[in-house]
Formats: sequence, C-alpha cells, structure tokens
Amino acid sequence: MYICTMNSKNLLITGGAGFIGSHVVNYFADKYPDTRIIVVDALTYASNIHNIMEVNDFKVGWKENVLFIKSDIRDVEVITNIFIRCEIDGVIHLAAESHVDNSIETPNIFVETNVMGTLNLLNAAKNYWGENSPNRFYHISTDEVYGDLKMDEAPFTEMTPYNPSSPYSASKASSDHFVRAYGRTFNMNYVISNCSNNYGPYQHKEKLIPVVINCLLEGKKIPVYGEGLNVRDWLWVGDHVKAIDTIFFNGRKGQTYNIGGDNEISNLKLIALIFDLYVENYKEKFLNAYNFDEKNELVPNHIKYGIPSKFVTDRKGHDLRYAVNSNKLQVELGWKPEKDFAEGMIETIDYYLYLKTQGWIPLDEKEPKIGDLVWTKGDGLSKLYYFGENSWSEDSDGYYIFVGGEDGITHWKPYIYEK
Ligand SMILES: NC(=O)c1ccc[n+]([C@@H]2O[C@H](COP(=O)([O-])OP(=O)(O)OC[C@H]3O[C@@H](n4cnc5c(N)ncnc54)[C@H](O)[C@@H]3O)[C@@H](O)[C@H]2O)c1
Repeated sequence: MYICTMNSKNLLITGGAGFIGSHVVNYFADKYPDTRIIVVDALTYASNIHNIMEVNDFKVGWKENVLFIKSDIRDVEVITNIFIRCEIDGVIHLAAESHVDNSIETPNIFVETNVMGTLNLLNAAKNYWGENSPNRFYHISTDEVYGDLKMDEAPFTEMTPYNPSSPYSASKASSDHFVRAYGRTFNMNYVISNCSNNYGPYQHKEKLIPVVINCLLEGKKIPVYGEGLNVRDWLWVGDHVKAIDTIFFNGRKGQTYNIGGDNEISNLKLIALIFDLYVENYKEKFLNAYNFDEKNELVPNHIKYGIPSKFVTDRKGHDLRYAVNSNKLQVELGWKPEKDFAEGMIETIDYYLYLKTQGWIPLDEKEPKIGDLVWTKGDGLSKLYYFGENSWSEDSDGYYIFVGGEDGITHWKPYIYEK
C-alpha cells in the first residue's frame, strides 16, 4: 500500500461549517490533536457554525486545535494571507454551493464559488508552496460529474467520462479539471474524490432526507419529484469522512478515488424506509402529528398507514440514477462503507427531532439582531445557539478567530492579521 509521507501541521479545511465539512473538522480535530485545523467558511445559509463548536458544562467554545476564520474562498487577499500567516501545509477543500435546485435558479454563484473559489485556493497554495511541493491539496468532489446512468448500466468508475447534467455538477466538473491541470502544470500534489449522496446529521433542511424527516415531524405531506423513481447511492457521512481521512494521508498523488455506499435506493423506497423507521421508533409523535389512530395489522408501517406524500413537478434535467464503483479505494487503501443504513437513519432522524425539541432556529429563518444571545434548555444542558451579528461585524476586516471564554460565554475576537 502506498503511504503518503505528508504530515500536515497546519491543515486548511474549507467549508468546515457545512454538512460534510463539519463532520470532517470534528473528526480530524479529535483524531489529530497535534494538527492545527484552520477552518475557512463564508457561513452561507447552508452552514451551521455550532456544529463545530463544543458545548461543555454550560460553555460553548472551540476545540483546542481548531481555529475558525470567516472568509469567502474567492477573496484573493484573505486566502493568500491565511496561507502565509497560518503556514498552511495541507488543504482539504469542501467549500461549495451544493444544492442542484439552487444551481438551476441561480447558476452564476455556482461558477463563482465552485470554480473561481477553487482556482483562488489553487493559486494561493501554488504561490505559497511553490511548484513540485510535497504538500497536499485534496479536492472533494461529487459523482454527479459523471452524469447519470440508465437502470441497467454499470456503476461509475474513475474512468467514466465526465458528462455533467446540472449547473451544479458542471461547476464541480470544471473545478476538478482545474485541480488536475494544476497537478500537471505545476506538479501539485493533489488528490480528488468523487462521492455519492451523503446522509446524516447536520445537513441543511433543503436536501431530500431532511425534507422527508421534517415533513414527518410536522405532519406534512412529503413532496416526491416526478414519479420518485430516481435512484441514489446513499452513504453515511461518517463513512465519507473516514474515506477522506484515508485518501488525504494515503492516497496516491494525482489520483482520483470514487467513494460510494454500495447502497442504491430509489426515492420512493427511501421515503418508505424512513417512514417505517420513524413510525417504528416514534409511533406516538407520528400518530399525533397526523391525527391518525393506531392500527395493529402485521404489515410494514408504510402499507399500514399509507405514506403521506404528494407528487410534485420533476426537477429540470433530473438525473435518473447514480451508482458508484469504489473498488479502487477499497482494494488500494482498504476503506469500505461500514454504517448500517437503518442505524444511520435513526441517528439522522434523532438529530432533526433534537433540533425541533430544542427550539433551535436555523440562521436563515431568523436574521440575527445586534446583541442577540439566546439560550435554550433541555436535558440539563443549555445551548447557546444564536449570536449577534455584531460578533463579527464590528471590525472592518471581516474575518475573525472565535475563542471560548472562561465565564461561560463565547468571546469572538478579531483575527489578528496584518495586511
Ligand atoms: N452532500 C453530498 O451528498 C455530497 C456528495 C458528494 C460530494 N459533495 C461535495 O462535498 C462538499 C461539501 O458538501 P456539503 O453537502 O457539506 O455542502 P454544504 O452546502 O452543506 O456546505 C458547504 C459549505 O461551504 C461554505 N461555502 C459556500 N460558499 C462559500 C464560499 N464562497 N467561501 C467559503 N465558504 C463557502 C458554506 O458556508 C457551507 O458551510 C461540496 O464540495 C460538495 O460538492 C457533497
């Protein structure tokens, strides 16, 4: 097995406040206590900064080795200076606009962040590291760059030609090409992985699985695109994170690795699975939310009660099927998906239930006001979930380090940085 000799002491993780990024940050921060994790995230609507903060003994703070900088990856000056000031010697790049529906409505921002933002990071890395550097640039991409498959076609391999269907996947494909071009032109030590659909806690509510779960929690009808026959290969986010860890340290320079869950499920079947698990585990909540009476027939819940769903107009250009062959990663680097799907889904349902019972409000539902500090109580823990906008707008530079305070309240300090 090829072992990468790189040893990152100052690892830049972009998009670390997003769904997958926050799991990566938490995993790396715990597993590599001697590595300083520098998180750069613009904190768009899709992020939730609290997912990478710790709540201990009524204190909200940061893990010792995590340093957060609020910045846009397109900001040339800030990104350049982060490389210099933080002596970055490794990058895991996850920051992106990630929702296909949004890319159909507003494609430009996908090109700006996913293509121009990636290019900016590549330039900053190349300029600071120089050509032929052993430092690693890891670009996180998607299986959607390959387009879609007919029902009887073999899963995507690393050799499948790119054929993106949506503005989102086209922007990701473009960024993949730029990373490869920097590998070829400047001998940059890059790796790329193309992963299938992830599920798990911390995903923004706009995505399919949170939509399904939130409808169930609220007693609403679940919207189903088209006929619900589209197939996705679902992977537990924690398994993706372990693959990222494996590839970052052990992947071969200039290689691409596909990551998949070996878990193809049609949207209709996925909804039925989630429905059955939810009713099985939270019967009373389900009956109350929908005003249903209990039934005792010995059939699966989705047959017993009927799934409360409605068919809605299909997404434009909706990809029919994704399926990923991750043999290369499994054989070469020994990774495999481990999480039992039902177990992972219960954890995911529990998370969205927790958000509801905690009265947690995502930032996009309520604009922060100057000085907002809101505490909620539950399970004997208080959670600070909402910060005043002035926390990061007082200074003109726009990027800050946040430091846990001794008095139980998090202090937000400007990042000390000289232009
Ligand atoms: N979610 C999936 O199923 C999946 C599957 C395969 C690959 N991916 C890829 O993994 C990466 C992470 O996906 P995710 O689902 O966690 O996305 P996400 O939308 O949940 O998070 C993206 C993060 O990037 C940040 N961001 C967006 N624009 C930025 C900018 N201009 N500057 C700095 N930060 C910015 C956001 O604030 C957010 O925290 C993406 O590159 C995506 O293409 C996702």
